[in-house]
Formats: sequence, structure tokens, C-alpha cells
Amino acid sequence: AVIHRSDYRPPAWMVPDVSLDFDLDPDATRVRAKLDVRRGSAAGEPLRLDGAGQTLLSVHVDGVAVNDWTLDNDALVIPLSGEAHTVETEVEIAPEANSQLMGLYASSGILCTQCEAEGFRRITYFPDRPDVLARYRVRMTADKARFPILLANGDPVDGGDLDDGRHWAEWHDPYPKPSYLFALVAGDLAVNRGSFTTMSGREVVLGIWVREGDLARTDHALHALKLSMAWDEQVYGREYDLDVFNIVAVDDFNFGAMENKGLNIFNSRYILADPDTATDIDYDNVAGVVAHEYFHNWSGNRITCRDWFQLSLKEGFTVYRDQGFSADQGSAAVKRIEDVRSLRASQFPEDGGPLAHPVRPESFIEISNFYTATIYNKGAELIRMMATILGPQRFRAATDLYFERFDGTAATCEDFVACMEDAGGVDLSQFRLWYSQAGTPRVAATLDHQAGGGRATLRLSQQVPATPGQPEKHAMVLPLKIRLFGAETGRPLTDEQLVLLDQPAETLVFEAISERPVLSINRGFSAPVVIESDRSPADLAFLSGHDDDPFARYEAMQQLMLDTLVAGAIEGQADHRAVIGAVGATLSDPSLDPAFVAEAVLLPAEGFIADQLATVDPEAVFTAREALRRDLGAQLEGQWREAYDGPRAPYAYTPRDKGLRRLRNVALGYLAATGAEDAAKLAFTQFAAADNMTDRQGALQVLSNTDFDERVAAFDIFFHRYADNPLVLDKWFQTQALSSRADTADVVVELAQHRAFSLTNPNRARALVGAFGVNQRAFNRADGVGYRFLADQLIALDRINPQTSAKLLPPLGRWRRFDPARSALMRGELERIVATPGLSKDLFEQASKSLEG
Ligand code: ARG
Ligand code: ZN
Repeated sequence: AVIHRSDYRPPAWMVPDVSLDFDLDPDATRVRAKLDVRRGSAAGEPLRLDGAGQTLLSVHVDGVAVNDWTLDNDALVIPLSGEAHTVETEVEIAPEANSQLMGLYASSGILCTQCEAEGFRRITYFPDRPDVLARYRVRMTADKARFPILLANGDPVDGGDLDDGRHWAEWHDPYPKPSYLFALVAGDLAVNRGSFTTMSGREVVLGIWVREGDLARTDHALHALKLSMAWDEQVYGREYDLDVFNIVAVDDFNFGAMENKGLNIFNSRYILADPDTATDIDYDNVAGVVAHEYFHNWSGNRITCRDWFQLSLKEGFTVYRDQGFSADQGSAAVKRIEDVRSLRASQFPEDGGPLAHPVRPESFIEISNFYTATIYNKGAELIRMMATILGPQRFRAATDLYFERFDGTAATCEDFVACMEDAGGVDLSQFRLWYSQAGTPRVAATLDHQAGGGRATLRLSQQVPATPGQPEKHAMVLPLKIRLFGAETGRPLTDEQLVLLDQPAETLVFEAISERPVLSINRGFSAPVVIESDRSPADLAFLSGHDDDPFARYEAMQQLMLDTLVAGAIEGQADHRAVIGAVGATLSDPSLDPAFVAEAVLLPAEGFIADQLATVDPEAVFTAREALRRDLGAQLEGQWREAYDGPRAPYAYTPRDKGLRRLRNVALGYLAATGAEDAAKLAFTQFAAADNMTDRQGALQVLSNTDFDERVAAFDIFFHRYADNPLVLDKWFQTQALSSRADTADVVVELAQHRAFSLTNPNRARALVGAFGVNQRAFNRADGVGYRFLADQLIALDRINPQTSAKLLPPLGRWRRFDPARSALMRGELERIVATPGLSKDLFEQASKSLEG
């Protein structure tokens, strides 16, 4: 069944208060729920409680057992007259048998919950929609030896021992919340305690809960939590509102983490970190996700979503907030580069493919399929554009207004934009198209200069491509930051200007431009668009060395590389000189931050190069990229060696050391690409001697793409060294799945049979199957072995965990982008998936839309 945004109706019944009583047992858990229900808008409607996969034992209304209820597609429908009643149900559920990891489930002996979006209905009967806000009282009873710790949302209020080896605890959350924010955890957990004093002087007790053996790897997460709490006070004026804040890490989790009120539950990969097992990127991600979930306390929990079509209201805004937090912890320029890189790797292909959807979708079959890069990352870009248009002071006034006006309610994207208008004093009518139109806008820019007259003319035009269900598009508001530089002197010729391009085409005139100008456009990536300009390789090389906006500098280099690589892929060869010159200049510029240099000299990913071609030829893309890598490696060998031999100090997680490590690993990659005689030895020595995972995995990655004998030895050593650390074993699988070697597809097929591989753990499935899907060369091997493997794995995984399976499907949806032979093979696999009996609606929606789109 397709759900449409336009079908929204306010709830017929509200539930101001609910008490839940859990008799916890992994095999059979009893849940008794007592709901205070009040009639909402529509008179005469029965009470409809969502449910799924549970055994209903009894129903009482106002204390009396009733049997006039019916089950309608798993929903419990109870006829009720009058305005207010008490409804009690008792159900039984089986957490241990729950492999889809939604609702109440078991993860290595810990009982935990995941309810967003529609998992609460798998725990008890309830109006499982985000606009029904209830106060929760939760009582849990469990075996004390197996489950000594019992946690739920809000504050603990009571507890005690029972005489049969069981014990109980009661928690109360004073803040009304939707069911998707409910959480409980029961297990044998150890805690890393901290405390935070809020700006109004209240003390909050913090706890990071993990298995005893993982306790030593929780300091970074706890530290990040404190930084997040302080940051949200300083930057957004948001204070935490309960006396306790708990985070629990579990090994089996469908995505990153969940912002349940006062009790965040995390995928352990976003909590656990120490130098020996986590890379710098892992450390960054831990801090970023801890911040993200914490920030949801205001953007998500205090103000939630009216319906799931509004998902980006909380996710887009919260991603924007976590990006701001991370930018403030180190280099803002590097953070922006990383965010744009990931937007291009994950959101642009989505926007240009069969699963394209607006930031506020119009319809869906399964809401889980809409936790996408478009909702999250493009959604964050929308907030960023509004912040750019308003400027920092007015943007802060607008978020203050939003938090005040909608506190305690379930709001819409429209409500947020209205606050931006009211406090910002701007008209965002046309801007709203960003919420309704899918597709990445393309902007064409040409700059002419009248040599004698000094007048420069910039012609801009925009085009929003057709997407499934949206053939016609209107011109949008594109905030473009622009500046002109002198080609001869290198000096800026204008100030930075913010141009709001809101017409199909516009012309801008700059007077008194005394020398030939070079265009710097979309500075800071001010709009999530593709720029098509006619800038020459020389001008791009010039900007890569002289632009004063670090993002624009990076971008000029990327464009130069991209143009060169596309030419190489199409023509079989290309002129590498401009790229080599620009990279050499960047490497030898002592004023640059090493972290920036490392980003700037990296070639665009194969997938992104492929996105520029009319028809993707994966081998041609790979060959062109390897040729440029080899040439860069060889021509600049001295500089790579210098970067590699640069300052070394014992491991520390500081922005400076992180940047140096990144640059050294990039340099090692270029040295290995040349086939330099000592490269294998350098990489293996680094691998063996490293005092941190960044260097160890960095060396392993370099080796993984080579024919060096050291490669096999390194993978072997790595496996045995970390055999009992699941997060590190994920890296072992992932690094092999991402290898550019010609035999990777065969290796991956074999790894799926490895004793350490399992589809039941989502991290492990993503590490092998997910990583393989984005390995452009290996996945698209001409004989179709990659496509068949992915389809086999998705079908098998769908029976265990449909959500995770559906998430891994998109690589097959790129079939229209390839030659007829590959296209037919991919379609064949999609058709096989759709024809599989008993397919989940998650995987069905993704596969069928991928065929149609
Ligand atoms: N709200 C969570 C977060 O962004 C993610 C929930 C994902 N849910 C899902 N069904 N995919 O932090
Ligand atoms: Zn989120």
C-alpha cells in the first residue's frame, strides 16, 4: 500500500499517558500496557492501535475485559464511545527470535529496543505515529543475574529485588513523546560515568553503558558528549532538560544510532574507540554521531515531526547542527570538503537515479526506505542555504523562534520555513521548491571580459533535471557565492557576493575590471548544485593555488582533475600536465594545513567520475584514474617522499596530527601507485610498526590494491591480531571488498563463505556486501558475477533483516547508466529480486522502483 502525504489526518484519539509493564525474558516477554485515551478531532471513530508480530492475550476497557475488538491488518480496532477511557492490553513477544532488529530484540545477551520509525508497534498495541505524544511510565522486571542493569527513558524513580532471583525498576519520562522515541535496555553492562553542569547550573549525570570489556574504549564518546552539550548551549541556546543522560552501545544495529529521549542507543561502532582499534575517521564519526543524537534532544524530541513525510525537519536540521559542531572541533574547511565529498558520493547519485525523491517526499511504501542521503544530507544543505540567505544573527533568531514556537509539538517542514521568514524578514516562497522538487540543479556559467572596456559579463542559467514522477521543473532559488580574481596579478577583483539566482537565466555585469578575470563560483559550496563552466585547465590550476576560499581552491583542483579524468576515460589518454603542476604547487605550499593538502591532492572517486559520463565504462574510468595516479606518483615522487617522511610523533588525536597522518597515507598511496621498488617495504613496515589504527589500516589499504607479496601477509596478520574485535574485523572484510584489484569480485564471493562472515550482524553485512556494491570496478565486472552476488545476498538477507537488505540495493538501480550488456544483467537481477516469493515491502519498493524509474 502506498501512503501519501496528502492523506494526513490528525489522530482520532490522543494518549496523554501510558504505563508499560515489561516482564522481560529473551524467549517470551510479556508486555502490559495501560493507555489513557482521549478523543481527538474526529467524533465517532473507533480506537485504532497499530501492532505487528505479537500475540495478543487480553484487552480491557475501563477495567472490564472486552471482546468486541477486531484485528485489521495487524491493527487492533476497539469501538469506543464517549471522550475518555482507560485501555489495557497484554501481549507476548519474542526478542531473541527478532532478527530484523526493530522493536525489542537481543544483541549478544543485551535486550534493547529500536522503535523509529514503526518499531514500537512490534512491542505493544499503540497509535504508532509521531503526532501522538504521551508521558511514559515504564516498569521492567527481569532476572537479576543476566540483566542486572535496567534502563528506560527519563529518570529512574524506583526499583527493588524480588524473591525469585528477579528484580525490577521503574522509570518515568516527564516529557510527552511519540512512540518512536521509546527505549529500554536490560543487560549486564558497565558504565563510564560523567557529569555536566548546564548553563542554568543543573547537574546532569552522564553514563556510557557497554560490556565490561569495552569500557576502556568509551572515553572519547563521553568527552564528545560533554563537548556537544556545551556547544548546543553556546551556539543554539539549547539546554539539556533531564537529570540523567544515558547512552548504550550494542553490536547489532540497523544504522548509526537512535536519539530516544534520555536513553540513546548506539551501534557500537559509533561509541567504541581507542588508538589501536579506531582510525581518525572513526574518532571523528564517534564524535559526530554522539553530537547528532544529542542535538536531537531539541531538534527531534522537544520538537518532533507531525508525520514521516516531515522526516527532514528533524534529520536535515540535526545533520546541519552536527556538521557545525564538527567544523568547530578542527578545520572547518576540511569538514566542509568531507561533507561535500560524501554528498556527491551518496546523494547526487540518488537524485539522478530511479530512487530520486524530494527532501519532503509525497508518498512511500515503507518509511524505512526514506532514511536517505536526500532526507539527511541534502536536507542539511537546505538549512545551510537558508542560514546563508539570512546571515548568522537572523538565522539564530529564526531557530530561537522555531524552538520557542513549536516546543512540545509535532511540527512540519513548513513550520520551520515560516520561522525563517518571520524572524529573518525574507520571503522564501520560491525557496520552498527545494522541499518539493527532486533532482540536482545544474548551473551553466560563462564569464566574458571586454579587454579595453573593463566590463565583465557573467551569464548564469539553471536547469533542474526531470526525475521520476516530476517531468517538469520550475526555476529554484540558488544562493551562489561568487568572486572574481585577476588572471595576471592573482589579486581579488571584487568582494565576495551572494547572488540569488532565481530565474532560468540571468546576466550580471561587473564594471571596471582591469585585467582578465577568473571566476570563483559556488564558494563554500553555497548551493548543492552542479556547476558547468568553461574555465580552462590553466584557470582552474590558478584558482587551486590562489583562491582565498579553501573550499573553492579544493573545488578548482577537483574540477581540473575531473576534466582530465573524463577526457582520459573517453579518449583513452589525457594531458596530465596541468594536474601535475597544480598538485605539485599545493604540496609545496608551506602555508597550507596538511589536512587540507591531503584532501586537495586526492583524485575524485571512480563513481563520481563515472557520473559525468553519458555511458559508464567502469574499466575505462579505472584505467584513466590509475594512469593519472601513476603519473602523479612518478612525476612528484620527491614531494611524496618528503610528505611521507614529514614530522612524526607518537600518536595523538589532534587536528594537526590527524592531518599529518592523512597526508602521509595519501603520499604512501601515490608512492605505491608508481610501483616504486621500496613501496611494498614502506607500506609493510608502516603496517607492522604502527602505534595506531589509522596508520595500520592506511598501510593495509595501500597494500590491498597491489600485487605485492606483503599484501597477503598483512591481511593474515591483521585477521589474527583482531580476531576477537568485531569492529576491526569489519575493516578486514571492508578493505578487501574495496580493493581495486582485478580479482576482487572472486575474493568477495569467497569471503561470504568465511567462518567470520554473517548476514545477521548488519555491520558485517555492510562491511562486505555494502562496500562491494560501491566498488565501481569490481561490482560492475563485465560477466555479471558482481550483480549476481549482490542479488543473492539481498534475497538471503531480506528474510533476516529487510531494512538492512533494502539499504544495500541501490547499486543495482544504476542499470540505465551502463552499456546494454551490463544493463541487461543488472535488470535481470532486479527482476529476480522482485519475483522472489515472500519479499519484504522494504526490498520490493527499492527493487521495483529501480526497475521503473
Ligand atoms: N533517527 C536516527 C538518527 O538519525 C536514525 C533512525 C533510522 N531509522 C530507520 N528506520 N532507518 O539518528
Ligand atoms: Zn538523526
